[in-house]
Amino acid sequence: MITALRIGVDGDAGPMATNTGLRRAYTVWATFYDVVVRFLRGSRRRSFALLNPQPGDRMLLVGCGTGADFEFLPPDVEATAIDLTPAMLRRAAAKIAGRRICLLEMDAMDLQFPADTFDEGVLHLILAVVPDPGRTLREAERATRPGGLLVALDKFWNRPTQPPLFLRVANALLGGYVTAVSRNLHAMLAQTSLEVVREVPLGFGGLYLLSLLRKPAPGERQVGTPGDTHPMTSEVNHLTPIGPSGHL
Ligand SMILES: C[S@@+](CC[C@H](N)C(=O)[O-])C[C@H]1O[C@@H](n2cnc3c(N)ncnc32)[C@H](O)[C@@H]1O
Repeated sequence: MITALRIGVDGDAGPMATNTGLRRAYTVWATFYDVVVRFLRGSRRRSFALLNPQPGDRMLLVGCGTGADFEFLPPDVEATAIDLTPAMLRRAAAKIAGRRICLLEMDAMDLQFPADTFDEGVLHLILAVVPDPGRTLREAERATRPGGLLVALDKFWNRPTQPPLFLRVANALLGGYVTAVSRNLHAMLAQTSLEVVREVPLGFGGLYLLSLLRKPAPGERQVGTPGDTHPMTSEVNHLTPIGPSGHL
């Protein structure tokens, strides 16, 4: 009942997501997931172009789902792709097609890799889904080597104001089972040492956002706080959306 749902003000509201509930929900979603997310192909391509993996790089795909990202992986990259839901992983397995991809059933909030294992990490449509996105981002940061890059693509509400009512209602209805729609990436980043290298608004009034992040090497000064301009690109605050009206 709608009155029983929590329609909060912090952008994280909604029924509490749990791994058990999400695994159940994504077991159902697995059947038609690829059709629903087909519109994001251009954004995925853009994301991998930003990441720009080099031959021999080790890449982690966090919450890889049905492997919709696999087609953008260069063949000489050594990828590890983890997900919570076996039904999603089975579909991902069918897309490996000769690439160097190791699939593992694993919780993104508790990665079973030593620190500094990967050169790059991909967080596509996962930070808005998992029960604890801050912990998930910290785990991805830990598993990435100093100087390594992460890319996050999702629906974020990074403004200081509370999200509009329709987003809070969407969170309440979908948050526990599909995805939240207005979590605050900048608040998550504040719990890490990650620097924002580049932010690209992808559409829906900037709700869909692509964010390129870098793990600083020890002793490096942290310069790219969220919303800041990073010296590597000087582009954070004046990016052109993709397409004439910011389409995905
Ligand atoms: C919206 S899908 C995104 C899939 C893929 N990254 C993509 O871009 O299409 C969310 C995925 O997160 C997975 N997931 C949810 N909670 C998780 C967790 N705690 N650890 C790992 N994967 C999780 C789900 O099984 C699902 O495959």
